[in-house]
Amino acid sequence: MMSTTNSQWSAKNPYTSYLSENYVLNGEGSGKETRHIVFDLGDSGLGYKAGDALGVIPICPPETVSDLLALGGFSGDEEVETNLGVCSLREALSNRYEVHRVSKKWIENLGSKVITDNGSIEIKIVGRDRVSTSDGSSVISWEGSGEINDIPSGYSQIMSPNDPSEELWNELTSDPKAMEDYIWTRDYIDTLRDFSNIAFTAQEFIDGMDRLKPRLYSIASSPDHEPGTVHLTVGIVRYSYHDRNRAGLTTGYLSDRCEVGETPIGVFMSPTRSFILPENGDTDCIMVGPGTGIAPFRAFLQQRDINGDGGRNWLFFGDWTESGENYYKEEMDDWKERGILDKHDLAWSRDGSEKVYVQHLMKKNGAEIWNWIEGGGYFYVCGDKSRMAKDVHQTLIDICSEHGEMSPEDAKSFVEDGMMKKEKRYLRDVY
Ligand SMILES: Cc1cc2nc3c(=O)[nH]c(=O)nc-3n(C[C@H](O)[C@H](O)[C@H](O)COP(=O)(O)OP(=O)(O)OC[C@H]3O[C@@H](n4cnc5c(N)ncnc54)[C@H](O)[C@@H]3O)c2cc1C
Ligand SMILES: NC(=O)c1ccc[n+]([C@@H]2O[C@H](COP(=O)([O-])OP(=O)(O)OC[C@H]3O[C@@H](n4cnc5c(N)ncnc54)[C@H](OP(=O)(O)O)[C@@H]3O)[C@@H](O)[C@H]2O)c1
Repeated sequence: MMSTTNSQWSAKNPYTSYLSENYVLNGEGSGKETRHIVFDLGDSGLGYKAGDALGVIPICPPETVSDLLALGGFSGDEEVETNLGVCSLREALSNRYEVHRVSKKWIENLGSKVITDNGSIEIKIVGRDRVSTSDGSSVISWEGSGEINDIPSGYSQIMSPNDPSEELWNELTSDPKAMEDYIWTRDYIDTLRDFSNIAFTAQEFIDGMDRLKPRLYSIASSPDHEPGTVHLTVGIVRYSYHDRNRAGLTTGYLSDRCEVGETPIGVFMSPTRSFILPENGDTDCIMVGPGTGIAPFRAFLQQRDINGDGGRNWLFFGDWTESGENYYKEEMDDWKERGILDKHDLAWSRDGSEKVYVQHLMKKNGAEIWNWIEGGGYFYVCGDKSRMAKDVHQTLIDICSEHGEMSPEDAKSFVEDGMMKKEKRYLRDVY
C-alpha cells in the first residue's frame, strides 16, 4: 500500500491537481446530486492508503466576489492586510475568506458603525476619497445635539435612531438564536443589503470574515487499484434562501466551476491513523455507509480485493431511492459475483411508505452481526454524524445486548470501552 510520508504538499502548500473525471452518480429523476470526482496525482509523489481523506482548497465564486465589490463600491485593486500577508481585495475575497456565509464576528464588528443612544451619532464620510481620520477609518464618532440634521458638512448620517438596520443589529447581537438563524441563511451580499447604509474601507470590509478553510473528503479508491489518482464521492450542497440559489463553497466549486483537465485545484492528503483496515486480512469487516458514507468502503473493498484478503465483507448502504442513488451498483454486483462482497444490505428511505434506514436492516440481521463481532470482526461507520452515526451506534449496542445476552450497561461498555477504545475494531469516519 502506498504511504503518505515525506510529502512536501500540505494545506499551506497544496499540490495543483487537475480532474480526470467529474460525473453525476445519480440516476435520472433523482433529487440529489452526488458526484464521482477523480483527481490526477501527476508527478506530485503524493501517496495514500485506503481510509485516508483528501483536502481540497476551494475558490469563492467569481460572480459573488464581483457582486460584493460592486455593492461595497470597490474596484478590487485596493490593498488589504490578511493573515497570509498583503494582497488585493479581490484576491482576499476569492482565495482567503469564506464569502458565502456571513460570520458572527463580522456582524458584531458593525457595532462600531451603529448609532449610540446618548446623543452621539456615528457617522461616515460619504466618499472613500475623503477618508481623513488618523486611524485611516472612514467612520468617526461625533458629539452633537442628537438632532437628525445636526451633522458637520461633508458628512452624512448613516443611521437614524429609527433605522431598521440598527434595530436588526441590536436584535442579532442580543439574541444568540436570532444571530444563528440569521447567519445560517445569509452571505455577505444579503447582509450588505440589510445594512445598506454602512460604508467600509477595504480593510474593514474583510476584517472579521471567516478565513477560507480547506474541506476534507474520504477517499473512495485504493491507490493500488487506481494508481496515480484519487477518487471521491461528493454530495453537492445546494439550497435556496431569500430568493437566491446557493451552493456549498467547495461542492459548488467542484461541480460548477472545475472542468476536467483544465481547472487547477489545490489538494493535499489528510492521512488517517485510526480508520484503517485490519492488519490481518482474514478478519471479517462490517461496513455501514449510507449516502456519501459509501466512499471509504469502495476504497476498502478495492483494497481487500487486490490484497486477496480472506476475511468476509458486509456492506450496509442506503439513500433515498434505488433508482436514483444506487451508487457504484455495477462494481458492487461484480464484487458480489466474485465473492468479495459477501453480504450487501440496501436501505431505501424514500421508495416506500415507510423510511428504511441502515440501522433497521442491522436490527433485522442482529444475530448474524453479533456472530461476526463475536468472531473478532471489525465494525466501520462512515457518513452523517449528527443523526445516522448516533442511531447506528445505539443499534449496535442493542444488538450486542440482545444477542450477546448482556445488560444494556454491559453492552454499552462492550461497544464503547471494548470494541471502540481498547480493541480499536469499531471505527468511525463521520462528519
Ligand atoms: C473527515 C471528513 C470526511 C468527509 N468526507 C466527505 C465525503 O466523502 N463526501 C462528501 O460529500 N462530504 C464529505 N465531508 C464533508 C465535506 O468536508 C464538506 O463539509 C461538504 O462537502 C460541504 O462543503 P462545502 O464547502 O460544499 O459546503 P459549505 O460551504 O461548507 O456549506 C456547508 C454549510 O452550508 C450550509 N447548508 C448546507 N445545507 C444547507 C441547507 N439545506 N440549508 C441551509 N444551509 C445549508 C450550512 O451552513 C453548512 O454548514 C467530509 C468531512 C470530513 C470532516
Ligand atoms: N458538513 C457539511 O456541510 C455537510 C455537507 C454534506 C453532507 N453532510 C453530512 O453528510 C451527510 C451525508 O450526506 P449524503 O447526501 O451523503 O446522505 P445523507 O443525507 O446522510 O442521507 C443518506 C441516507 O441516510 C438517511 N438517513 C437520514 N437520517 C438517518 C438516520 N437517523 N439514520 C440512518 N439513516 C438516516 C437518509 O434518509 P432521509 O433523508 O430520507 O431521511 C438517506 O436515505 C449529510 O446528512 C450531512 O449531515 C455534511
